[in-house]
Amino acid sequence: MSKTIVLGCDHAGYLIKDCVIDHIKAKGYNVIEVGTYSADSCHYPIFAHRACKKLQDGEADIGILICGTGIGMSMAANKHKGIRAACCSDTFSARLTRQHNNANVLCFGERVIGKGLALELVDAFLDTEFEGGKHATRIGMVADIENGTFEE
Ligand code: RB5
Repeated sequence: MSKTIVLGCDHAGYLIKDCVIDHIKAKGYNVIEVGTYSADSCHYPIFAHRACKKLQDGEADIGILICGTGIGMSMAANKHKGIRAACCSDTFSARLTRQHNNANVLCFGERVIGKGLALELVDAFLDTEFEGGKHATRIGMVADIENGTFEE
């Protein structure tokens, strides 16, 4: 069964959203959109929260969040339990954050990168698997920090 991607953006990510959606649909993914649906000014945490809820509820497997820089979206997303959001503007990071961090949300900024690079980031992120092993141990430590159970 094909994986489902939840995609959210604010007004500063709105112009790039449709080409990202077309691209991921063409790659065979299902897409759930959680807004925003216009270029009117809005608040990015709303859309980060909607997307993260879909991931936490198991309705989606991967998230893509777009704002002006990608930073606000990643900050908001990372406040959600079980969410590992990475703000990327280079393909090396987009690939490595899957391999090493098992990131489940890719964030980027429409005001930072162009459409061509955005689609390359999406490809690098979606086409890369988590390596597990020692990286799984480290992700477990991050989860312990999140849960307040971390001990050195
Ligand atoms: C909106 O102006 C902008 O602040 C937002 O899209 C994002 O870049 C925040 O991190």
